[in-house]
Formats: sequence, structure tokens, C-alpha cells
Amino acid sequence: MASAVLLFFVLMVMSVRDGKSEKSLFNLKCESAVGVISQNTNIPCSIESQKKPVSINTVVLKRLGQKKPCFVYQPHENTITGDTRFKVLGGSSLQLQNTAISDEGEYEYHIRTSLGEDLIKFTISVTAKYNNPVITSVPEKIEKNGRAELHCTASGGYPAGTIHWFDQSNTNWTKSASLDITRGDDGLHTLSSTLRFQSFDTLWAPFKCIVLNNKYQEEGRSSFILERKDVSETTVGNNTMTNTIAGVVVIGSLVAGLLVALLCRQRRVQHPLPSEPQYDEEKEGLEGSVYKETADGRQDFSV
Ligand SMILES: *[C@@H]1O[C@H](CO)[C@@H](O)[C@H](O)[C@H]1NC(C)=O
Repeated sequence: MASAVLLFFVLMVMSVRDGKSEKSLFNLKCESAVGVISQNTNIPCSIESQKKPVSINTVVLKRLGQKKPCFVYQPHENTITGDTRFKVLGGSSLQLQNTAISDEGEYEYHIRTSLGEDLIKFTISVTAKYNNPVITSVPEKIEKNGRAELHCTASGGYPAGTIHWFDQSNTNWTKSASLDITRGDDGLHTLSSTLRFQSFDTLWAPFKCIVLNNKYQEEGRSSFILERKDVSETTVGNNTMTNTIAGVVVIGSLVAGLLVALLCRQRRVQHPLPSEPQYDEEKEGLEGSVYKETADGRQDFSV
């Protein structure tokens, strides 16, 4: 009786071992992938086994929590179903083309090979780099010791990042700023940070705004070029200058015109008997109004 129990036990252990040994014939391993939006994302995978070569019969990819596979590949029949942006690269590695934010998540990778099958999970995360930040101020021209607001905006990034502020002496002003994060229809984020001053000291400028991604790595920076109110006054001065110049030009051209008119008159005085062809020449050169002038001129002669 005892031997029968022992035999049963040994058989059980063997069968468990059998199953295990079949499984350990090969091992599928995948690294989690970080993709960049609208680019290709590689998911490096490998089959580890003592026996070689291993031939793949079926690849099935499912998003975690979904019943239907998002991608199925059967190399022997050379058939692909599902999302055609997925590709099996050499061996068991995968590639996802034209990565989108919606591709983010956990996946289940089921592989069937000549050595049996295995299942593994991996995650895809997606990133997009923020555009260079743009700084604006309210008011546009800042008065010394006046109220001011600095705005720094960076768009087109993913996932949500943050904005830090530093002044000319690298003093960290971030704690005084308020950050607003909005998500567009495309899933991309816009970061807007506002720094408010009751009394702005122009010596603090230029302010720097630094955009950091969700891993606190810098993605871009901008410096705020201060426009001062008193600077704008010199611009007004410049305007006066241009006005003066314009006045000089107008008066100058008037004087020149008068001189030309005088010269013409003098010519006529030198030729008191203008002949027909001369009239035609003048008519061609000056057009229309000449007749009247010549008429006036004649009147002058008669005086
Ligand atoms: C600036 O201040 C922010 C908010 O307090 C902080 O998270 C950040 O690490 C500081 N940066 C530096 C360079 O000290």
C-alpha cells in the first residue's frame, strides 16, 4: 500500500516536472518599450533556449484586458491580421510603426514555436518632446517697480511635464509660479506657467523658463527679453526724429519743385517766341496740364 502511494507521488512529481521541463525548453523575454509619437517603436524580444534553431509558428498580441488580439502573425502561412502597424522583426522582436498616444499600455505577447509556447507581458509608453517655450509678459512693456506677469508656454509634449523659472542670478522662482496643464484633442499637453509680480525689479531680468519632461529632464528653455516702459519713450523720441526728417524731405521737395518751375519760366523768357514743335515736346513731356501753364506763361509775357 505504502509503495503504491509512493509510486503515485513519484508519478505526480514527474508529470509536474515534465510540464516544467517542456516550458523551460525555451523562454520568451521582452523589454518594455518607450516610443516617440509618430515614430517607430521597437520592442526587443528574445527566445532563450538550449535547442536551436527555434521556429515560430504563431505570434499573438493582445492589449491587456481585451479579448480580441490586436495583432496575429503566422509566418508559415505568411498571414497578418489586426493592426498592420505591428511587425515581427528578425526572431521574436516586434516593431510598432507610427506610434500614437493611444498605443500606450500593457500588452500580452503569446508565442507558439516548434519547442512549445510561452506568454509574456510588456508595456509600451509613449513620449513627445515639447516645443521650445515662448515667454510673454503683461503688460508688454514693463515699468520699473510696476506690476507684471510673465507667461511661459510650451506645447506639443507628452506626458505632462513642468516648467521652472530662474532669474538673472539663477535664483529659483518656481515656487511663486502657477502651472496650468491642458490636454488637446490630439492628446498632447500644453504647459502654461505664470509668474506674478507686485513690483517688478528690472535688475532680475532676463528671466529663464525651463521646460522639463515627466522624468525632470530639460527639453527646452527660453529667456525673457525685457521691454521697459522708459525704453519705449526713446522709441517715441525716434518717432519725432523721423517726423522731422519727413518734414525736411517734404519741404525740400517743395523747394526743388519751385526751383524747377522757376527754371522753366526762365527758359521761356530766354525764348520769347516758342515755335510749334517746342509746344509738342513740352506736351509730351509733361502731359495735359502743360497747355494751361503755357497759356499762363503767355499771359505773363503779355504783362
Ligand atoms: C526649483 O524649485 C522647484 C520647486 O520648488 C524645485 O522642484 C526644483 O528642483 C528647483 N530647481 C533647482 C535647480 O534648484
